[in-house]
Amino acid sequence: MDGTDSPPYVPPYPDRFETPPSTLKRVALARRSFLDIWSTADFSQRIAWVKVLTRDVAFVNAPDLVKQVFQDNHPLLQRKSPQMRHALELLLGDGLFVSDSEVWAARRKIVAPIIHGSRVPDFAPVMIQVIEECRDRWEAMGEGAEIDASAEFAWLTSEVICRAIFGQTLGEAYAGEIVLGFAEYQRRIDQLDLASLMGLPEWFPRFRGFGVHKSARRIRTVLDRIIDRFEAERTPDDTTVIAALLDARDEAGAPLSREVIRNEAAVIFMAGYETTANLLSWAWFILSQDPVSRRRLEDELDRVVGDRATTYDDVANLPYTRAVVSETLRLYPPVPILAREAIGEVKIGPRVFPKGSLFMVVAWLLHRNPTLWPDADGFRPERFLEPDDRSRIKKPNKYAYVPFATGPRICAGMVFGEAEAILALAVLAQRFRPELKPGTQVKPHCRLTLRPGDSLPMILRKR
Ligand code: HEM
Repeated sequence: MDGTDSPPYVPPYPDRFETPPSTLKRVALARRSFLDIWSTADFSQRIAWVKVLTRDVAFVNAPDLVKQVFQDNHPLLQRKSPQMRHALELLLGDGLFVSDSEVWAARRKIVAPIIHGSRVPDFAPVMIQVIEECRDRWEAMGEGAEIDASAEFAWLTSEVICRAIFGQTLGEAYAGEIVLGFAEYQRRIDQLDLASLMGLPEWFPRFRGFGVHKSARRIRTVLDRIIDRFEAERTPDDTTVIAALLDARDEAGAPLSREVIRNEAAVIFMAGYETTANLLSWAWFILSQDPVSRRRLEDELDRVVGDRATTYDDVANLPYTRAVVSETLRLYPPVPILAREAIGEVKIGPRVFPKGSLFMVVAWLLHRNPTLWPDADGFRPERFLEPDDRSRIKKPNKYAYVPFATGPRICAGMVFGEAEAILALAVLAQRFRPELKPGTQVKPHCRLTLRPGDSLPMILRKR
């Protein structure tokens, strides 16, 4: 044990089948929630594949094989799945998140440094300001008030990313409009694009519906309006994402086109907001159910921060809070499925797969694989700390723990997201103690991302 002798708190997860269900049944169940289709054996299986009409679909669930997919065979397996590309291309165009090959490599070089860990100190004041606004609003609502924690954290993370991209004034003015646009777009696309999964060719017409085009157009129009205003009002010492995109030059020394700037701004917004919001919802929920972890987190905050305001420098001195974040991401990875399409024949594990095969690394399975994680379903933040020195972070195997993916396409905003979550937990748990509204049943649900249902009713309790 990692020094925790009592059995850990086990947060909710869907029932698992004892006998693996048929592929057809799994596909049908996946339309409701991708988490509901697994059997107990799937969690410890190394690799499995099925044929869905013409396409091989492989599930990879062991660190050495995950390395083969994301690292060793990156050139052949860097393409996102057709479902992902079809779902997002109207919104993101050729943006970093959905592109591959030369376009991806060129964009990665430009976009990754803009949101890189070394730039996070520049964004930290915006993070802290938004989190404190949230805290002050909670204080004004008063003891015993009911909140929807999911909506609160969605507000918090969308404000942070909007102000980081567009600056304090414009970010604040337009955050609501952008969030509405993205939410509407998401509602209208169908995550499980069966046509693509079943191997129908790329040119096969897909029914997307008028609404999807309309909501994508709406988002593009808002983004253009903000970029226009930004260019007109820009100040020289600006450290925003949009300023960096406007100043960026491609390899030929040319500025990025308006379309590229808009696409990459949309990528950063989309990639950086719901993921962090889901992480915070899960962490706040777990802390409401697990008094042992909650007390340890509060002790650390009292010791390190006390009554003063939290600063970015505190992040490095809050190992337990960081471990709570890491353990929450293990149990509830906001992006629970990482999928890639082979752009050529590729050997993974024991088998050669033809071009067009789909590879799925399901973090939901890998992170709960009992051969890799003792007490796999239990919440034990200590597993991310060195057993003989709890003030030191213990790095997990980067091919067994993939909440941010791994290899060359690893999340470009990882340090940003982690810092934001640590700061949010620190500032909010300094004043409030999470409490679930009595009678609330929380069940993990996964469409595009993994969420604790549509809302998370919590009660505000001051510490
Ligand atoms: C807890 C928060 C976050 C989680 C769990 C997360 C997770 C991920 C994952 C799993 C991917 C890879 C997806 C795939 O391979 O299909 C990814 C990609 C990406 N993320 Fe994050 N992310 C988080 C926060 C952020 C933030 C805050 C930003 C921006 C500031 C960001 C920007 C990006 C970008 C640009 C990519 C695309 C990278 C590429 O394809 O080269 N993410 N993220």
